Amino acid sequence: MHARVTAATATTTALLGTVLVVPVSGAQAAERAGGDGPTVIAHRGASAYAPENTLAAVDKAAELDITWVENDVQRTRDGELVVLHDDSLARTTDVEQVFPDRAPWKVKDFTAAEIARLDAGSWFGARYAGARVPTLKQFLRRIDRHDQKLLLEIKHPQLYPGIERDTLEVLANEGWLERRQVSKRLVVQSFSADSIRTVHEVKPAVKTGFLGTPAVDRLAEYARFTDQINPSHTTVTADYVAAVQALKGPHGRSLEVFTWTVDDADRARTMAGSGVDGIITNKPDVVERAVDGR
Ligand code: G3P
Ligand code: CA
Repeated sequence: MHARVTAATATTTALLGTVLVVPVSGAQAAERAGGDGPTVIAHRGASAYAPENTLAAVDKAAELDITWVENDVQRTRDGELVVLHDDSLARTTDVEQVFPDRAPWKVKDFTAAEIARLDAGSWFGARYAGARVPTLKQFLRRIDRHDQKLLLEIKHPQLYPGIERDTLEVLANEGWLERRQVSKRLVVQSFSADSIRTVHEVKPAVKTGFLGTPAVDRLAEYARFTDQINPSHTTVTADYVAAVQALKGPHGRSLEVFTWTVDDADRARTMAGSGVDGIITNKPDVVERAVDGR
């Protein structure tokens, strides 16, 4: 891994011209490597095996010995943060049956008490009947119980003005922003650069990630406020990964790359070969086996 990162740094000198290129220390490379391969992140929990973004999906990731879990955070009508991917409740809950007159069933139009009544498990399988849409607080507590780490996505932030501060407040209240923990077990990411810039400005100690593939000549701008560039795997090349990792982020360390969403073993091996730091997957067991060579 260290040799790979060193080579990547050299490659990027040519790619970036005048952009600052940062040498990577052995310790930093070793920590990034985290052992034998990229970090494996369970996307929406182990969502190939349990209903996405539920506590059951967190439990399944823990059962598979997966430390990192990704989720999606949105806000209810009465200001509670909940964990759900779509801006509508329709696909992953029984909201159409419980509230037939409330189309299009947007998260932002329902109170936390109303959402707490919904079944978020039956759509996935009968054995998950009764699973609930968790609040962020419930989700954090379950992650804590398993001693897991969280890649938290602020979802659709344009729908929820101020959600960045709300999210940081819940994280703080739950003890997730204490200095010892914050850089080791939490990354806040978004497709919105404005959203993660806000997170960085409000709470600079928190690691952030930008979801997307900015052009190489714009990466230095992102490096002012984000620690990770997290691209779709369809856009990843070894040269791009090297260009990202050659830059120093706001915490003085090389930028990292967590790519998504890879469920196929061959593709996971290709991504590992391209030098990514993390692979976000619905099938963390498959990817873990692939990149560890197990
Ligand atoms: O973590 C990356 C991934 O979750 C981004 O896409 O749509 O699954 O939230 P999406
Ligand atoms: Ca997500």
